[in-house]
Amino acid sequence: MQQHILQEIQRWFGTYVDGFRGPDGKLAPLLQLKLEHSRRVAEDARDVAGDLGWSAPEVNTAEAIGILHDVGRFTQYVEFKTLSDRRSINHATRSRDVVERENVLVGIDASVVQKIRDAILHHNQIEIPVGVAQDSLPLVRLIRDADKLDIFRVFHDIVSNDRLDEHPELLFGVPLEGPANPELVQMILSQRNVPFSMIKSLTDFKLIQLSWVYDIHYPPAFERIHQRNVIGKLENLLPPSPEARSVAALARAHVALHRRKPA
Ligand SMILES: [Fe+2]
Repeated sequence: MQQHILQEIQRWFGTYVDGFRGPDGKLAPLLQLKLEHSRRVAEDARDVAGDLGWSAPEVNTAEAIGILHDVGRFTQYVEFKTLSDRRSINHATRSRDVVERENVLVGIDASVVQKIRDAILHHNQIEIPVGVAQDSLPLVRLIRDADKLDIFRVFHDIVSNDRLDEHPELLFGVPLEGPANPELVQMILSQRNVPFSMIKSLTDFKLIQLSWVYDIHYPPAFERIHQRNVIGKLENLLPPSPEARSVAALARAHVALHRRKPA
């Protein structure tokens, strides 16, 4: 997408978000968090695409998807008073619907519009579903990488500052206490995707975050995980059990292996 279209999308997004501000000009704290998340994901998507050597229009499209991928969060929160998809709606579907309803993608080539829709729609699924158009896969993979890069940051920030009670949607209502679910540890160690239903404690949630490295696609995203010490920081939040150490060591080895590989 051309630069001026990206700028229009940025402008539209700012105006759209302003519509959710209270009389004091502020957003609800969870929506403020989502606004900042969207901006950082857009920046990472742009930077990773740039590192991959994508063309300027492709880099612009990557940034636009970062801006738009969670735009459905705003009406989700207003309508359902929660950001928990389980208790409300799939926010990725809502994001795609908002983008469509608001005619955000007018003037963009139809084939690019389809890729943007696919990337938004599949950014939050456990796995990329079989059958997604081949052409859309690079952007679907990119937004999933960029989104995870920032969720690592947000999750660490919230847990290390003891602010989980402000974000009940993050934990899907599982209790904070309790040991690691051994079955979940085994699945992570065999690098299989772990369904969220297996999370039984906050420890499990931290372990799942480590397992996300197996769903990162691009070397520049691995490089950022390395630079930002994502594994070390998550490991510091975990109990010093042999299981946690093994999961962290394996995740670290996976990142080291993939961060320098050519795309
Ligand atoms: Fe999302």
